This record gives sequence, C-alpha cells and structure tokens, in this order.
Amino acid sequence: MPISFSEDKKIFKLDTAGSTYVIRVNGLGFPEHLYYGAPIPDVNLPGFAKRCRYASFSATVPEAEGDYFDGFTPDTWPLEIGCSGCADMRTAQLQIRNADGNAATDMRYVSHRIYAGKPALPGLPALYEEKPGDCSTLEIETADPVTGAKAILIYTVFERFPAMTRSMIVENASDRPFEIERALSFCLDMNSDAYDLISLYGRHAQERDYMRRPLAHGIQGIYSRRGSSSHAHNPFMALISRGGDEDHGEAYGFNLVYSANFTGLVDVDYNNSARVVMGINPDDFGWTLAPGERFYTPEAVLVYSAEGLGGMSRAFHRLYNHNLVRGEWKYKKRPLLVNNWEGTGMTFDDEKLVAIAKWAKETGLEMFVMDDGWFGTRDDDRSALGDWVVNEKKLKGGIGSLVSRVKAMGLKFGIWYEPEMISPDSDIYRAHPDWCVHVPGRARSLGRFQCVMDMTRADVRDYLFNIMSEVLANNDIDYLKWDFNRNITEAGSALLPPERQKEFYHRFILGTYELMDRITKAFPHLLMEGCSGGGGRYDPGMLYYSPQIWCSDNTDALSRVDIQFGSSLCYPASVQGAHVSASSRSSYETKRNVAMWGTFGYELDPAKISEEARAEIREQIADYHAYYDTIHYGDLYRLICPWDDPYRCAWEFVNEEKTQALVTVLTKFYKEKRNFFLRLKGLDPERYYRRKDTGDVCSGALLMNAGVSLFDFPIGDGESKMLCFEAV
Ligand code: GLA
Repeated sequence: MPISFSEDKKIFKLDTAGSTYVIRVNGLGFPEHLYYGAPIPDVNLPGFAKRCRYASFSATVPEAEGDYFDGFTPDTWPLEIGCSGCADMRTAQLQIRNADGNAATDMRYVSHRIYAGKPALPGLPALYEEKPGDCSTLEIETADPVTGAKAILIYTVFERFPAMTRSMIVENASDRPFEIERALSFCLDMNSDAYDLISLYGRHAQERDYMRRPLAHGIQGIYSRRGSSSHAHNPFMALISRGGDEDHGEAYGFNLVYSANFTGLVDVDYNNSARVVMGINPDDFGWTLAPGERFYTPEAVLVYSAEGLGGMSRAFHRLYNHNLVRGEWKYKKRPLLVNNWEGTGMTFDDEKLVAIAKWAKETGLEMFVMDDGWFGTRDDDRSALGDWVVNEKKLKGGIGSLVSRVKAMGLKFGIWYEPEMISPDSDIYRAHPDWCVHVPGRARSLGRFQCVMDMTRADVRDYLFNIMSEVLANNDIDYLKWDFNRNITEAGSALLPPERQKEFYHRFILGTYELMDRITKAFPHLLMEGCSGGGGRYDPGMLYYSPQIWCSDNTDALSRVDIQFGSSLCYPASVQGAHVSASSRSSYETKRNVAMWGTFGYELDPAKISEEARAEIREQIADYHAYYDTIHYGDLYRLICPWDDPYRCAWEFVNEEKTQALVTVLTKFYKEKRNFFLRLKGLDPERYYRRKDTGDVCSGALLMNAGVSLFDFPIGDGESKMLCFEAV
C-alpha cells in the first residue's frame, strides 16, 4: 500500500511514483509535517525530526509537559493544518468564527482512514482515478475539543506519477452554526526556505508570464479577487531549490483545481520554515455552516520533481492527460479547426461562413467553428448576450440550415457561447434585471459593455441550460467554445440573505460548474473549449469540463511563444488552444511552428490572405497529423526558455517510446551570427535517429551530448525551423 501507518510511531508515510511525504501525530494530537521530497524507504526520523524550537514570544500549549513537550508551541512546529486564534501565529489554513464570536480554533487528531481510490468532491472539479489501483487516499480527521468544529484533511497519492492532491472538509459537529472565514485547501510547512518562488502573472493577451523570486522573510504569493482565476495570476506556484533550473534541483509544483478567487501564499517565519498555503481567497469570503453541514474546499495538486522544472512539468502533463481531462475527447484526436473570429468578427452571414468552411474543407481542415455574433441582435459587443436565439437575418434558415451545409461538406461544426454573461441591451435583461450580478442601490459596472449573470441562482442556470439545449439538441453540433469576457464587480445576488452575501463568489463558480456538468452530461459528444478573453480562466478546474482552453487572444507567434512557455509549466500541449492567424507579423512557417504546440487550428478569413499563403497552409497540415501524438501525449523539453534567453527559444517533444522527436527553434530577435549547438534531451542514448531534412543518422547520445549545429540556421527576426528526428 502506498500509504502506511506505523501504530507505535504514529507516523503516516505516503509514497507516490517519485516522492515520499511523512506525517506524524504527536503526543498532543497535532498532525506534524515531517518530510516531503525524494522517495525514502523508512520513517526512522527521530534525529531528523529535531528542530529549532526557539519560540520568540510564541505561546506554548497549556497541557504540554515533560521533556519532549516542554515548551511545545505550534508556532514553531511544521504542521499539517494551521489554525487561527490559538498559538500558531503563521498564515492560517483555517479560520472559524465560532458561535461565541471568537476565532479561536485548535484542531487535534481524532482518527484516520486509509483506502484505495479517490473520493469525489461534491460540486467541485477534481482529479480522478483513471484505472483501479491508480490512487490511494488518507483522511485524517481532526476536531476542536471546545467548539465542535471538525476538519478532515484529505491526501490522495498517485501511483504512476510523483503527484498528490490535498483538500479539506470542514464539518460542524456542534449544535450551533458557525462561520468559516478562511478554509484553504492545504498547509505545507517546508523544512527550509532555500527556494525560489516561481509563478505566472499577466494580463489579457499576455498571460502566464514567468516570474522567479527568492523566498524572503514575510508573506509572498499570488491571488485573484476577480471572480475568475484570471489573467493576472494563474493558480499555480512552484518552489525550486536556489540555483535549480530546467534539469536540476528540487521542484515542488502547486496548482489549485479552482476557477474563481484564489490565493497562494508562502510565509517564511523566523526559524526559516516556509509555510505554503493555497485555496479559496479569504478576502470577501465567508460561509455559514449549520450543525451537521460540511464544507468542501477545492483540491490542490502537488507535484515533486528531483529533476528541476522540466521534470515537474512533465509530471503535471502526464497527470492531467490521464487523471484530469475526461470524456469522449480525452484521447480522441481533436479536429483541426478554422474559427472565423479574427477573420470576420461579428460581421458575417451564412454565405460568408459557408465560404470559409468550403476553403477549410479544400485545405484539409476538419471543423468549422462559428464564433461570437450569431444570436439575438449581436452586431457588435454592445448587446444580446443572454439572448441565445439565432439571428435569422444573418443566418438565413437558422442554425440548422448552416449546420447541414457545413456537415454536407464533411466538416464538423462548432459554436460559441458566453453563458455567464448578460448584456443590459438584451431581451433577457429587460425581462429579468435581477438575474444580473448586482448589489442594491449601486450602479452595475460594465466590462466590455456587459454584466454578469447571477450563476448562484438555480432559475438562471435552468434558463441557460434550456436555451442552450434547444440549439445543441436540435442540431448536430460537435464543439462548444465557452467564453467569459469580464471580471465580476459589485458581487452580490438578489436571492442571498445579507449574512450570506459573502458566499457569493464561491456559489457563483459552483453554479458555473453545475451548468458545465449538466451540459457535458447531456451532450457527451460535445468537445468543449474553455475561453476567457483568451486564457483568463486557464486552470485545472476548467479542464475538468473542457479538455482544451483557448490559450490567449494574442495570436502573434513571437509573443504567443512566451505565453506557451509559461503555460507549459503545468499544462500539457493537449489542452492548449493554439491557432495560426492572418494578423500576426511572422511568416506562415513560424506561425505554424508555434501553433503546432497545442490543439492546432486556423483563425482567419481565407478571402483576405494571398494565394501563396493559402498554398502554404495546404502544405502545413500533413505535419500536424504526423506529429499529433508526440505533441499531445509526449514529453516536453524546454531547451531554451524565453526567460533565460531573450533572443531565441527552442522546445522539443519526444514520444513515449522515444522513437520520434520534434524540435523547434525560433529566433525572436537577430543579434549576431555565432556558434550555436543545440543539445537535445529525452532521447534514448543507445538508439540512432535520422534527421528528416538532411538524412543524417546520429546516436541519441551524440544528439544529447554534442548536439546539433545550428550555425546555418535561419537567423532573421522571427524565423524558425522545425526539425524532426526518427529512430532508425
Ligand atoms: C473573446 C475570445 C475570442 C473571441 C471573442 C468573441 O475575446 O477570447 O476568441 O471568441 O471573445 O467576442
């Protein structure tokens, strides 16, 4: 069993495919954290477990006595749960406002349960067991002896990957209600602070930029208060040993399976311990828990790698491909698509769309996607969101006629929705002004001229499900792009009582998840692509419902490549929407080379591009099919990262069997002609590989140690080359 419990030592040992995690229940009932890192066979840790107990004005636990516990203070001890209001003064995982009005909480071990499999989290997206035997779970039940609050800490380990998930259930086992003010998903007290913190920040069209900073005393971290996980910070952080890089050093990755307000913090204390917490953002959050009720936090994914950031990323990629993405499209080849958004905006009619589809068919594409502008009075972005009824002036004969014409060509058909939004200029808003997120007496701020639907309401969700089903059930639609184009302000619901308005943001995302769940269950054949002004909700919560997400509205290959590098820290190529567009500055070769790092497609109006460009596109498509599996399910090696070299970058995919490698090198800005040997990674050193363009045959060892000379490589700004190596 990958999870064991030593009765005499009171020690839990949790093993994954490449990590060990050790917890001890001490004599006072505190679940202590002892170790998280590379696999170790034993738990004979008494010498190791000694630590600095200098308690700088920290309070001791009243009942502590004898040698070992003399002066025990939870403030200096690594714990599996940190609570507010008693002796642990660090950033808390749990804060409860008790029925008496105080916020003192003190959780002690009560019991535990170890079992095969992984529990589902009601109403929340979560990783799942793909095959029986994949996962094992430990639940540690803790309780506060005074208030009757309980916290159940859930740990699931994965046997095929160096990964675990953690979450928490808060239960009210008393006879009076209390309010949860803070319930984060996990608390991890690292034994050292000798790490750098890596996170992904950004904005619209510039998502997931890489940032690395050394940990410092105090609190550092990332957050969203925007109602979605947001463009500003992705719910991902990593700690890497100082000096660690793509291949070296210990890397710990943390990713929250959640799509709304979150926080991720690292708190370095005066003893140089680093406490890592992640979960629902406690700002403007509260949850009233009646006696007998439970609250489930979203879960966080923890990945450990002894092989630097590259090893961490590859573990995330495999884990997400196997244990997060679901449904019919999980392993099914995603159709090569053309989307009309960048080509036409909302100015189109059925003839225009059919012309694009016709070109797509002739070019060898497989699906036509109709983007924004097909419904209500939607001629620009000032109206009609919520009126999900076809605009027959634009699409004569309705959606049915368009779908049949596209299908008759042998293409699949996709459609765009933005279900969680409502335009003030719409029939639905005029009929139900209270369906919009708002607070009494305050103006409803607009973002892109639109407001947000109150997803906390069951009537709103039913309306959306029914009106969307009307279109989806009566037409043979294969794909749905689910957009979300503003953040939430004046967060409030007309149906929640004042004391529960603090529950709004979490209830909102639970409502969205419920609707997504209903749609995916009612239309299991549908391929969903998440979107939020590009990658504003690019998180594992969304990936549970949509196996792919539009990575960014920025389709300029030279800036897109940075976004893709950042995203690849934890998200696999198989989930990354990436298209060639007409608008960007580079050659079609470079656009294609960059967009192949994802669920490839085109986003243009063929009538507006040259005959040469159309001919080039026709030739590009064969490669997509030839390398599909290697890109989607192979291992990624970031050979030269934009954060290390501003002039050029390179990346490589190697298939699982190590028989095919696809290497892309891109010069962003030409600097000077100089020697340039690119060493490949991840090949079989003993095998020989043929380079497709030159026919050269070399050993994997040579390619990885001597490398490939790229002295003659095209070096102009924005030029790129894709090299393919195949085992002979
Ligand atoms: C967002 C998306 C785009 C497109 C538009 C339509 O910005 O990211 O791809 O769908 O909305 O309004």
